[in-house]
Amino acid sequence: MAKHDLAFGIDIGGSGIKGAPVDLETGELAADRVRIPTPEESTPDAVTRVVAELVESFDLPKDVPVGVAFPAPLDHGVVRFIANLHPSWKGVDLPAALNAATGRSVTAINDADAAGVGEQRYGAAKGKDGVVLLATLGTGIGSALLVDGVLVPNTELGHLEIDGHDAESKAADSARERENLDFTQWAKRLQRYFETVEMLLSPELIVVGGGVSKHHEQFLPLLDLRAPIIPAKLRNKAGIVGAAAMAASVAGHHKDKKHAKK
Ligand code: BGC
Repeated sequence: MAKHDLAFGIDIGGSGIKGAPVDLETGELAADRVRIPTPEESTPDAVTRVVAELVESFDLPKDVPVGVAFPAPLDHGVVRFIANLHPSWKGVDLPAALNAATGRSVTAINDADAAGVGEQRYGAAKGKDGVVLLATLGTGIGSALLVDGVLVPNTELGHLEIDGHDAESKAADSARERENLDFTQWAKRLQRYFETVEMLLSPELIVVGGGVSKHHEQFLPLLDLRAPIIPAKLRNKAGIVGAAAMAASVAGHHKDKKHAKK
């Protein structure tokens, strides 16, 4: 049997940095995920060092594409603003910093966008046309908007101002933990959040990711929305899988361009 193509995905989060090789045919992890806690001082230096350590721990051939999912909007790779890592990330050219730290050519993508791509290719949004919204509920709230399977990048809907608050400060999973909310109390906040997003965008499907999505039976049925709202299939692997898939597409695109030039 032919060996499936692999790419390596890394998901940088507020509490952990996780990486694994991904089988691009199935979207499954090709080896166990490795997780290293995010350094307390989550500066560019400290975080890129952990990324390099993760990549090295897998002994990957040099031509395996590497993709990194990052919790901020990226303007041609440059961090536009940063909510949940060290403030010195603002303005950093992320691919350049990652290339320097790892000695490889790394593709960078917003973490929620990566999760959206992962779910669209392999998970809960597979084959879905129309407007699909994926929201990740973790340290912050991330959003990915897909229209007929095409990503509209950097939507940042976690920072909508709702009732005078930055939405993620009230409705992210970290708010549930910080304020010791039970799922019923938290669901009220999610209701307010998703009804606002639904009013603005009229998605036909909402997919909910992030680690807490494994407890989806405890809060998704409490929400009353027009669109179906379903848990992510890849759960919190979606960022890794989507980043790997994006890196492979970028690498393939470069190869095609090289061939076209010949
Ligand atoms: C960031 C987003 C990110 C989300 C989830 C937000 O605070 O601004 O870029 O996708 O957190 O990590």
